[in-house]
Amino acid sequence: MKAVAVVPRQRQVQLVEHEAPSIAAPTDVKLRMLDIGVCGTDRELCSFQYGTAPPGSEYLVIGHEALGEVVEVGPAVARVKPGHLAVLMVRRPCPHERCVACRSDRQDFCFTDDYTERGIKEAHGYMTEFVVDDEQYMQPVPPELRDVGVLVEPLTIAEKALAQVWQVQERLPWACAAVPGREPGYCHTAVVLGAGPVGLLGAAMLAAGGFQTYVYSRGAVTSAKAALVAAIGATYICSEANSVESLAEQVGDIDLVYEATGAAGISFEVMRVLGPNGVFVLTGVPGRDSAAKFDAALIMRNLVLKNQVVFGTVNAGREAFEAAIRDLGIFMQRWPDAIRSLITARHPIAAYRDVLLSNPGGIKHVIAMDGE
Ligand code: BGC
Repeated sequence: MKAVAVVPRQRQVQLVEHEAPSIAAPTDVKLRMLDIGVCGTDRELCSFQYGTAPPGSEYLVIGHEALGEVVEVGPAVARVKPGHLAVLMVRRPCPHERCVACRSDRQDFCFTDDYTERGIKEAHGYMTEFVVDDEQYMQPVPPELRDVGVLVEPLTIAEKALAQVWQVQERLPWACAAVPGREPGYCHTAVVLGAGPVGLLGAAMLAAGGFQTYVYSRGAVTSAKAALVAAIGATYICSEANSVESLAEQVGDIDLVYEATGAAGISFEVMRVLGPNGVFVLTGVPGRDSAAKFDAALIMRNLVLKNQVVFGTVNAGREAFEAAIRDLGIFMQRWPDAIRSLITARHPIAAYRDVLLSNPGGIKHVIAMDGE
């Protein structure tokens, strides 16, 4: 079967003939792949900054944002049936007994770095026709999310971040007073840095959660992304026209920053204006060659005198996948056109080079495995 792969040793991105997988264990599920999202990590894999082929393989099949349809199940599979839609998780546990995270089904917090990630690190990904995996690594998706189910995985990054924010903030009285009809975050402000798919999905999650949400990003207020931000009830602030100080003035005390740019410079600049008891979440992975200067003493002073927390987060566990599927359903009820417009275009697999090797603009590009 066809698959898109990187061949790190030859520094090539190719369409390869990959052996079709079959059900080997009673809890295995076979999926026909439908939509595969392309993200910054995939483009980094295709420029060989990142990524490792599985042991014994010359190539790595890429793709980790996936929606598939169940076509066959092993005799012990209980959670999905043929015909169901499902999304696949990315990370698989390390083998070490001492890794309590992996041994507790929380490989997104692996201690040893010996985890594998399908489509990224030592395990083939999903940009191919069929995939087999254990049912524990997939989540069923309701049929009404067929068009947008491919957005579940990038949304899980935000869901894992927000779950941790609520846990971290249990250190102080932070919860908003319960008011019927108001969502739990209504008394807090949140600033999202960046208006790519991870930022925009994070903004939708925060807005749906009641937060007064601002998106601070490059790009004019007249851009399509700014319109999308307005459509979900958040406020767009252009970083080229508004300094960080002006951002802080417009927002007031910033309770939460959700960073989705991968840019260290702007992230540490915004850290300066984080509010009292604020939390700053980093999700972007900056390139190894980019260095940023910042006022470390000012940031340290604020961290201490304002009781602030900064944390980084990567990957996502089962709960984040469940939350993402639930929230995507809520988004589609509230803002169907805006959420659909996150997907800029669907491309057939034959167009993989245009999508992966150049930056085609827009928001989320998807390889439709059933596309012509
Ligand atoms: C994926 C994560 C993964 C991370 C690091 C991201 O693009 O969404 O699942 O853990 O890359 O490899």
